[in-house]
Amino acid sequence: MTIILPSTPENISRAANILRDGGLVAFPTETVYGLGADALNPAALAKIFQAKGRPTADPLIVHIHTLNDLNQLASQVSDLALTLAETFWPGPLTLVLPKTAAVPSLITAGLGSVAIRLPDHPVALALIKAAGTPIAAPSANLFGHTSPTTAQHVYNDLAGRVDLILDGGPTRVGVESTVLDLTSTPPRILRHGGIPRERIEQVIGSVDVMARDYAPTESLPSPGLLAKHYAPYTPLTLFKNDLLGTKMLDFVQAETALGKSIGVMVIDEEAHRFEAIGCQVYRLGQANNPAAIASHIYNALRWFDGRSLDAIACHDVSPSGIGSAIHDRLLRAATSVIE
Ligand code: TXA
Ligand code: MG
Repeated sequence: MTIILPSTPENISRAANILRDGGLVAFPTETVYGLGADALNPAALAKIFQAKGRPTADPLIVHIHTLNDLNQLASQVSDLALTLAETFWPGPLTLVLPKTAAVPSLITAGLGSVAIRLPDHPVALALIKAAGTPIAAPSANLFGHTSPTTAQHVYNDLAGRVDLILDGGPTRVGVESTVLDLTSTPPRILRHGGIPRERIEQVIGSVDVMARDYAPTESLPSPGLLAKHYAPYTPLTLFKNDLLGTKMLDFVQAETALGKSIGVMVIDEEAHRFEAIGCQVYRLGQANNPAAIASHIYNALRWFDGRSLDAIACHDVSPSGIGSAIHDRLLRAATSVIE
């Protein structure tokens, strides 16, 4: 049975005991909720893949609570890695580094590198510390589904598959960490996320970004880059290059005329145009506040999933700063893209 408990000190130590005993605990981080297991216990790690329905070819991120744990997991910690860790940790940046023999191959999908991050959330940090071991944690959703930003989202996907869910309220950032591969030169962003490329480049100079497009059979350096991911169960149509919102409004009007019910995710400034024609509207935040939009995006997708709609329509956002992560997730969640 799965229970949701508030993140009190007592419940955090109860959760830590479950982790030490090889169980699964979902917990809040600043990005999304994670599905945690003892990173050094292969039997516990196997449960993560089973609970999510995730292929074992998709490697996991290891969460630590202090920089001291880095040497146990990474065989080389370059000056560059240290600079990034000191600048951005705790925070939504994951560093891919050469691994030590202590890291089970289930974590790394057999790769020679391991992904590590130190999250910026008091509950996550207290839990890792109390467990006394690094915690492997993917996002706590069923494989391919939208990532969870509340304890209830986790419950909706994983009830009966996780021993305990620690409730820490809605997550602050709302999209996952940026994954930065430091085993290539120059460093390469494998996944856009909470720390924008621009901020990383201010610290270490220019980085590469892994191209989105690839042949489906190609072996992927980061399988989280699978094209179809983060998707709601309701089909999502994404509108690109539609600055005036005319194409989206036309689409919604035409579909509504056909008797379809359409949910619209939209910036605050445009909400009234869609409310005026009777759509279900989720306001994402103001156009000039992409951080607010990022924090709402997954909640919006899941909110519409509960409303038996025929489709969701959403605007793309400009791919700069945190907008790169939003753009990336919307593209991969979308069933169709209209340019
Ligand atoms: O914000 C986050 O990163 C959240 C919270 C829970 O920390 N976690 C998360 O985990 O998003 P997950 O499993 O959903 O995504 C992990 C990503 C995947 O894209 C995976 O392919 C990549 O990290 N990854 C993990 N290890 C890797 C490695 N050794 N080399 C390249 N990519 C790796
Ligand atoms: Mg995920």
